[in-house]
Amino acid sequence: MDKEDRRRYLVVASVFLDIVTPLFQHMIEKDYTTRRFGSFQAFMDNLKVVHDLFHLRHRNSGCCKDNVNCSNHKSLPLIPLQWKKLYSENPGQGIHNCHCKFTANPVQLKELDISLSSIILLNCCYLLQPEEEAVERLRQYKNDYWSHSTTGCITQTEFNTVWSDLVTYILRLDPSKQDDLVSIKNRSLIESLFKKYFVCLLDLHKQPDEDLMQNGFTCECGRQMIILANKDQSRRHRKQYQIGQAVFYLHQQISLKSLFNVDKGRLVTDIKMMDDGRLVFCVPDQSKVLIYNKDESNTDSIPVRGTPCCITTVNSSTVAIIVVKPFRSSYIELYDINYKIKLKWIQVPGMKSACGISHINNKLVVGGLRTLMIVDHKSEETIQKIKIRCTPESIHASDNKIFFKNHHTGFISNERKKLKCYSLSGKKVQGKILPSDPYSITSLRDGSLYVLCIDGSIHHVSGDLKDEKAVNTNNIVALKGGNIISCNAKQNTMVLRNNMILSIFQEQQQD
Ligand SMILES: *[C@@H]1O[C@H](CO)[C@@H](O)[C@H](O)[C@H]1NC(C)=O
Ligand SMILES: *[C@@H]1O[C@H](CO)[C@@H](O)[C@H](O)[C@H]1NC(C)=O
Ligand SMILES: *[C@@H]1O[C@H](CO)[C@@H](O)[C@H](O)[C@H]1NC(C)=O
Repeated sequence: MDKEDRRRYLVVASVFLDIVTPLFQHMIEKDYTTRRFGSFQAFMDNLKVVHDLFHLRHRNSGCCKDNVNCSNHKSLPLIPLQWKKLYSENPGQGIHNCHCKFTANPVQLKELDISLSSIILLNCCYLLQPEEEAVERLRQYKNDYWSHSTTGCITQTEFNTVWSDLVTYILRLDPSKQDDLVSIKNRSLIESLFKKYFVCLLDLHKQPDEDLMQNGFTCECGRQMIILANKDQSRRHRKQYQIGQAVFYLHQQISLKSLFNVDKGRLVTDIKMMDDGRLVFCVPDQSKVLIYNKDESNTDSIPVRGTPCCITTVNSSTVAIIVVKPFRSSYIELYDINYKIKLKWIQVPGMKSACGISHINNKLVVGGLRTLMIVDHKSEETIQKIKIRCTPESIHASDNKIFFKNHHTGFISNERKKLKCYSLSGKKVQGKILPSDPYSITSLRDGSLYVLCIDGSIHHVSGDLKDEKAVNTNNIVALKGGNIISCNAKQNTMVLRNNMILSIFQEQQQD
């Protein structure tokens, strides 16, 4: 197989999975929200919708209700698996052989693959004629390329004939996809990605095939990506620090202005270091995530649709970012920073972007009104909601504990100064009053914390919150007055942003 053929396959596959799929889902959402349905399920439960879809699966059925609108289709576009995914039969209503005995399942919009979402769009939504044509054509192209082609190749000729049509129809439905299309067209062949997309598209055309599914892949074709099973990271051997001891020395300072052309300090809202030493920054005003490779001194960026506010690392190549969308809610978005692509987005009902985001035991931790939420980024589900007395901010998780501060503190100064901790094993919140209001929280290799306070001081706090001591910053100007603090245990590194200066500290060698 020619490498370029495979690359073209990946490009076209990416267009269908990363652009067309979410676009179709979004169009359905727009349609039912304008028609004031409260949810996708409510929409699917609408009698007319059930009725129309029922006849796309069942032949020669006269229905008990609305029977002037019954139809009989020559071909049945909905396959049994799809119908079963959408509807369940109500028990004990066997008399009529018709749509009235079915109720919609709690299916999420983002679980719909291209086939199913195009059927719903074409049969149950209001589309203008040009839109309808575009949806039909995209669906047709998808079938042309994947119902028959299982080779994983697209020749130059095939590509040339299809690309401009894909662009035309996609932009007709959503002109804002232009940039995404340009960047996907240039996507280089990444074997692992190729394999995932290949499996995902094959799966769109047949029932999950045991052989294909066994290699650790879980297919989520309704979404943009598939996720490989992750192994838990084993605990590292670690040495305890004495609270307050000097842990870091200044290694390097970088001017953010020269790096990113950012002219105001406040424009970088979060910084994390990957395990390989790369730094990732949220730059909301530029709608970008920036990546700085500290050895090669080069920078890279990933465009983000919306405003990226806070960031956490997920594994060696992935970050999760809270992105605020204009006029819509916030989403968690996962990006692969090597390939600079969005892997997926997760909507977490009730999540507030101001609470922050962190990562623990392979799960994400976010917050909402008086709640901490644990989100499984693989299943995309909120697996735990922890009710607490305050709305959390500056969330930082480590060692089975979630640290945060109170977002709404009013005038109670002791509440403002509290560093709080919810222990997942103890299931309760503890607090520790610090000399100044906590602002940014990070943990060291031994599980103790560095808490940057609003007066610029840094406090070293034990993981159980019992001991606390201010870090002596007398001799180190770079340690004073920071705005963001973040450590990486693998790199033994701490970064501290002080307006436009980023200081990188290394751990002192210990004997
Ligand atoms: C048939 O469908 C039309 C269009 O949606 C609708 O206005 C009409 O009420 C339906 N007929 C019956 C008998 O419900
Ligand atoms: C992207 O494609 C354009 C032309 O299609 C080419 O000039 C450019 O070098 C490509 N960029 C990369 C990173 O491959
Ligand atoms: C990192 O996490 C992402 C998202 O869950 C996943 O797709 C990817 O395969 C993971 N990579 C590694 C190296 O574990």
